[in-house]
Amino acid sequence: MKSNKNILICFGTRPEAIKMAPICLELNKRQVPFKLCVTAQHREMLDQVLDFFNLVPDYDLDVMQPNQSLNKLSSRILSEIDTILENEEFDLVLVHGDTSTSALVALAAFHRHCKVAHIEAGLRTYNKKSPFPEELNRQLTGRISDFHFAPTAKAKQNLLEEGIEDSNILVTGNTVIDALFFTLNKIEKGYENSFITDLIKKIDFTKKVVLVTGHRRESFGTGFENLCHAILEISKNKDVEIVFPVHLNPNVQNVVYEKLSGKNNIHLINPLDYPSFVWLMSRAVLIISDSGGIQEEAPSLNIPVLVTRETTERDEGIKAGCSFLVGTNTGKIIVEAGKILNANNVKAKMANPYGEGLAAVKIIDFIQNTIFEDA
Ligand code: UD1
Ligand code: UDP
Repeated sequence: MKSNKNILICFGTRPEAIKMAPICLELNKRQVPFKLCVTAQHREMLDQVLDFFNLVPDYDLDVMQPNQSLNKLSSRILSEIDTILENEEFDLVLVHGDTSTSALVALAAFHRHCKVAHIEAGLRTYNKKSPFPEELNRQLTGRISDFHFAPTAKAKQNLLEEGIEDSNILVTGNTVIDALFFTLNKIEKGYENSFITDLIKKIDFTKKVVLVTGHRRESFGTGFENLCHAILEISKNKDVEIVFPVHLNPNVQNVVYEKLSGKNNIHLINPLDYPSFVWLMSRAVLIISDSGGIQEEAPSLNIPVLVTRETTERDEGIKAGCSFLVGTNTGKIIVEAGKILNANNVKAKMANPYGEGLAAVKIIDFIQNTIFEDA
């Protein structure tokens, strides 16, 4: 690769940081220079990830404000990233997934005539309201981007059907599996931290651990209330320990703490840092979540996920029998959780449809050998 190429990596939320960390680590390993910009759309949840992967941003836009509207957030991102792009010329800007950060940074890069590469490209529900606003963010980023790293063949197919040229798409697997294997490897080698020590003190791991997370905007209000009612019902099984790291969004915090506080076997805790969350996932028998990343990670750990959404852009996991779409229907969550908790059969380990942990290597190979060689 010509050494004078200037790469900008930009992300802002917890999941983007987890999924972009393997890219940063691979570039460091190859001694390819790049600049890292965080919008800090999330603050505490982002910083936990930066710490674990030892990533130090060159630019920190610090845009998070408590519970700000999507429009306020978007305008702050657009205006702050423009200053960076005005002061420094980049040959390639890398963005990830479906967040406000990715869509607005891609747009700003386009306005400044920079090439954009989209990691985790091509996932679609084709329903603008679900996930909201992420489906449209992902489509916008896809329209703007010059290069598309699709995690699965299905994601590539979506892009082809939208008219993207085959030669600009690469199927890579999902970088979250790279991050997961990196982390599991550390844990196997004895990694511990204060979150893990606290979990060991608080949770009775001789019981069946049910891990719960949730944050989707389309579930605010009734959806989260329904989920809480289901959790209360599941907690009546005294063989079960429920652990719920509660997202810092006030729309989640308010309802979850109001409905689920004060029960012996429901542990409401702050978001865990990535290694302790992976540690906990690997000890769970069931995960109930609306998270995209967790749907992708869980098959590698052989843990079933009840997906509390009406739609998913990750249907590979549903088809493979790793995850089950239950919506935020209280009855359905209770019934499906009961089936999994009462089953004694240990499932055979299956191949993870989201990849084998080599996504970052494939992405950086393509950038070095195709994007920059052709330039
Ligand atoms: C964002 C992404 C979504 C991703 C999710 C992961 C968009 C539109 N959505 O949604 O794709 O799945 O992150 O969590 O970009 N907060 C804190 N501290 C933090 C993080 C959040 O206090 O570290 C609070 C703030 O009040 C913030 C609010 O949570 O305003 C919401 O955060 P925001 O990034 O706007 O939305 P998410 O729902 O997290
Ligand atoms: N995660 C974490 N701590 C937590 C909950 C989740 O580190 O307390 C990790 C999880 O392993 C996954 C990612 O965060 O890699 C998912 O983030 P989130 O659910 O917020 O977003 P999504 O994946 O839905 O975009």
